[in-house]
Amino acid sequence: MVFVNQQRVPRKRTYLMCPPEHFGVEYAINPWMDMSVPVDPDLAVKQWDRLRETLVGLGHTVHVLPAQPGLPDMVFAANGAFVVDGTVYGARFKHEQRTAEAAGHRAFYESQGWHFVAPTETNEGEGDFAYVPDAHGGLILAGYGFRTDPAAHAEAQEVLGRPVVSLRLVDPRFYHLDVALAALDDGNIVYFPGAFSVASQRVLAQLFPDAVLADDADVLAFGLNLVSDGYHVVLNSEATGLAHKLAAMGYQPVPVELTEVRKGGGSVKCCIAELRD
Ligand code: ARG
Repeated sequence: MVFVNQQRVPRKRTYLMCPPEHFGVEYAINPWMDMSVPVDPDLAVKQWDRLRETLVGLGHTVHVLPAQPGLPDMVFAANGAFVVDGTVYGARFKHEQRTAEAAGHRAFYESQGWHFVAPTETNEGEGDFAYVPDAHGGLILAGYGFRTDPAAHAEAQEVLGRPVVSLRLVDPRFYHLDVALAALDDGNIVYFPGAFSVASQRVLAQLFPDAVLADDADVLAFGLNLVSDGYHVVLNSEATGLAHKLAAMGYQPVPVELTEVRKGGGSVKCCIAELRD
């Protein structure tokens, strides 16, 4: 066996998170949400704090967006916008239960002086958009099929000036792109092929021939819903198989427990938006 010792280099990031102070499963808009399963609110906050401290401990900057009562999914901060090259493409939620979250995100970006562009098309921010800066000169990968309208892919391309590749999601359990695909570093991704249409799988294979392919166990453990700085890969602690795979490739897995927000159908990545200037 040939063993290639790859040098992985972390890059400092800026993130936005929103505490689960008002988190709960009060409605069911994805197959993971079961209103009959109780959420432990104190544990939810504790686990979220741990996630935030982990990112800060790795040297990253974390901004905190105030949680709002009546918006139990606001903890999933990734859905509030998509930021590339200092431009913020705002979100427009599909479900009315989450619509009001977008204004909170917009207020944050505007107060911080970011260039904010309001969307006209339905899109759930980084839930359905990923950015790979060194792939093909800077590529946006975008999911559709459940939440984000494909018209938003074209809108994002116009707003952000980067090519957007549309990928069709076909399994309702993987209703957002970020539960089935993640950037591992500036040039490569990991994804679960079964979440995508056969044609979209071919597109991914063509664009990312060296991508890491995840299996059923990885995706069902929310392992793909990860945040990487290029070396440290923060991921759901249940995704042990994926953690081993990534460690063998020279990444440093950093497992975190997120049992409570997972009841809302999200994990690490869903809780974190990346602010790219
Ligand atoms: N309950 C939320 C919803 O269904 C979960 C969102 C998860 N966020 C994400 N980026 N995948 O909208």
